[in-house]
Formats: sequence, structure tokens, C-alpha cells
Amino acid sequence: MAKKLFIETLGCAMNVRDSEHMIAELNQKEHYELTTEASEADLIVINTCSVREKPVHKLFSELGVFNKLKKNSAKIGVTGCTASHLGEEIIKRAPYVNFVLGARNVSKITDVLHRDKAVETEISYDESEFAFKEFRSSPYKSFINISIGCDKQCTFCIVPHNRGEEISIPANLIIDEAYRSVERGAREVFLLGQNVNNYGRRFSGSHPKMNFTQLLRDISAIEGLERIRFTSPHPLHMDDAFIEEFATNPKICKSMHVPLQSGSTAILQQMKRGYSKEWFLNRIDTLRALAPNAFISTDIIVAFPGESDADFADTMAVVEHVKFDQIFSFKYSPRPHTEAEHYDNIVEATIASERLRHLQDVQDAILDEKSRHYVGQRYRVYFEELRQDGYVAGRSDNNLAIRVKGSEEILGTFAEVEITQSARLSQIGEIVVA
Ligand code: SAH
Ligand code: F3S
Repeated sequence: MAKKLFIETLGCAMNVRDSEHMIAELNQKEHYELTTEASEADLIVINTCSVREKPVHKLFSELGVFNKLKKNSAKIGVTGCTASHLGEEIIKRAPYVNFVLGARNVSKITDVLHRDKAVETEISYDESEFAFKEFRSSPYKSFINISIGCDKQCTFCIVPHNRGEEISIPANLIIDEAYRSVERGAREVFLLGQNVNNYGRRFSGSHPKMNFTQLLRDISAIEGLERIRFTSPHPLHMDDAFIEEFATNPKICKSMHVPLQSGSTAILQQMKRGYSKEWFLNRIDTLRALAPNAFISTDIIVAFPGESDADFADTMAVVEHVKFDQIFSFKYSPRPHTEAEHYDNIVEATIASERLRHLQDVQDAILDEKSRHYVGQRYRVYFEELRQDGYVAGRSDNNLAIRVKGSEEILGTFAEVEITQSARLSQIGEIVVA
């Protein structure tokens, strides 16, 4: 009988892809099958995130819960960014954990499985030329890594410490993966990297020169592929050629996540982001001029050390000007192994909370205003997910989450939908042309 694997994936889309890879390795080499019940699993894996402090604390309470409910013979593994960052400390604090596998070592999953108390967190391990195995959590779209690691040194961010230096994955591997996905029926690929538009700066072997814009062109030549998405571009590397390709290539979905972090040039400098408020606004204005209906989302950190009222007002000015379609907003969280950890001009907790609330209130009002205009509009939707309440959910090209009444048959198909009800981040509609 097949053994059972329970895997919990926290954090970003790269972790989703890493989990898919581990599932495939475990399935093909060790005959594991997935279960959604941790209590019946033979192996429990938590694929962790460490970008902010809270999820790291939660890991240990969660491990305790899994340890109580698991079968006696079951193993527990901790993988991903917190595994990289805490290493053997995880086994010291939770001695029942069987192995710890860092974010840059996930392809070693079937190896550590058989070495009790193994800790594999080598940061220079090169997975960039290692074709990830086939397992897809969705048959309709495929996540594809285009680079590993990150070469930036944003002073708040622990990612470079956990995922190591940035290496691009050779274009032929990426294109092969996209081909195979389309052959299996997926119509959309989602390209992943910490700085996707920095693609091609460095490969680990010798490969022909290639930048992100060229990679997008090559992928879009794949017949049968209808949609290309990617996350995240870095504002600094948004050159005109990239914006133009984004705007004019019909296969590239008109939605872009452009992480702002702060609207104050002084704070951006402290964060070592490499761009100013003016540069960011110029790039967004250029983008909007060429692709007026593009959905633009962003990440914002409030209360970075030293952020004054005037700095925060600059962030709000950018928010009011750009009118983002979605904002992921966070209070600054000091992280080990980062430069900002040592900054002492910490913003008081109550001020940080007030700023976050204010930002979210203003953004809610912006979204309320936007959502009023959606009713009556038509969008081409790709249906990807069956909901329990008799709805099928999908996304428009410009990333609106839209659901319609329907059933399985429309999964994996496209249809023209007219919006009938609109809320901040979810729209309800009716199919007008199938
Ligand atoms: N390169 C990725 C960023 C990965 S981290 C990208 O461009 O999307 C994801 C987000 O977490 C960041 O954009 C940032 O807004 C947030 N973040 C990272 N470190 C943080 C910290 N120390 N405190 C609060 N938020 C943080
Ligand atoms: Fe982190 Fe900055 Fe890289 S946010 S992932 S160091 S681009």
C-alpha cells in the first residue's frame, strides 16, 4: 500500500512550487500519495516561510500539534525558509522532528527522509540546472521557477540569507517545462522568481545570453499556451522594452505585482531598494500609458526604522496617485541576518499599527470606488477552481477574481463573463458567451 504524505505550504508561490517538486520526488522514488489528514500520514512536511517573525513562532506550536496527532511511526520534516534560517535549532527545540531541509535544498527530500535528524541547509547548493519533477497542484496553470535565490540586499529582507545568491534557470529548461504543461492541458504558466525581470544576469553553466523580455517572447511562441503571468518584477529593472513587451504581447496577462515597499525616497534608500519615489511613479505611469487596464498590485511595509510622518505621507501620496488594485501591507518586522535588524530608530508599535490601519482604510475606499465600475463590464475568464457553494472561480486577464454559478465542466475553459455583483476583491458574474 502507498505511504501517505501530508504537506502544509506556507508563504509565497515559490514555496508552492518547491512543495510540488517534493511531492513529485516522494511520489516517484518513495511511492507516497497525498493526504489531507495529518493524523493518517506516514510523513508530515511543513514547508515554511520566514519573511516575517509571526509565522516562525507559529511553527513550533504547530509542530507540537502535529507531534500529538501523528501516527506513532510517522516522520515529521521541516523544509523551506525557516529550515534554512534556524537549521539544527529546530531539532533542538522540537526533538521529534526527523529532518530539516532548507529552501535551496528541496531536491534532496528523498535523501534526508532516510537520515534521521539530517539537517541540509547548504546555501550554495545549486538547483538551477535541476529540472523540477512533474507534479502540479492545478491542472489548469503551472508555476515555473525561472531563477533561484536573490542578489539584492534589501536591508529588511531575510530571503537572500535563506535562498542564497541569484542564479537564473537555463531558458531551455523553462521552455521545456512550459511545453510539457501545455501538452498536459494547462493554458496558463506563472513564472516565478524573486526578481523576474533581472533574469539572465547569471547562469551557473555557460548558456546563451538572454533577458526577461526575450524569455517572455520565447515562451509566448508556444502554441496552445494562452496566458503568461509572472511574479515579481523589481521596479529598478523595469526598463521600457520590458514594459512595452508586457503591454503589447497578447499572451502576457495584463496584471503586474510591482513591490513599492515605501513611497519615501529617504526610506527607500535606507531599505537599499535602488530606486526613488519618482522612478517608481515614472515606471507605473509609463505602464499605465501603454496598458491602461492593467491590474497593478504591490507590497508596502509601514514603520520601517526611522519612518517619519512625512515619509509615511509620501507612501500615502503614492497610494493615492497610483490607486493600486491590490496592496499587501505589512508592519515592519525585524529579521535576523538583515542590516535593518541593527537600526535603532524603531517606530513605536502604536504608531506602526495606526499607519497600517490608515493605509488599509484608504486602500479599502479606493477599492470600493473601483468596484462600483466593474458591474456591467465584460471580461474573458479562465475557470480554475470549483467552489463548494455551486460556484466556479477564475480570473480575468487583468487578474480580477470572478466567480459564476456553474459546475466542473467549465473548469479549464475560457468564457466571456459579465459582472453582476462587485465587492472589493471578488466579483460575481454570468457567462454571456461560452
Ligand atoms: N522579491 C520578492 C519579495 C519577497 S518577500 C518580491 O519582490 O515579491 C515578500 C514581501 O514581504 C516583500 O515584498 C515585503 O513587502 C515583505 N517583507 C519582507 N521582509 C519584511 C520584513 N522584515 N518586515 C515586513 N515585511 C517584510
Ligand atoms: Fe528580499 Fe529585496 Fe530580494 S525584498 S527577496 S532582498 S529583492
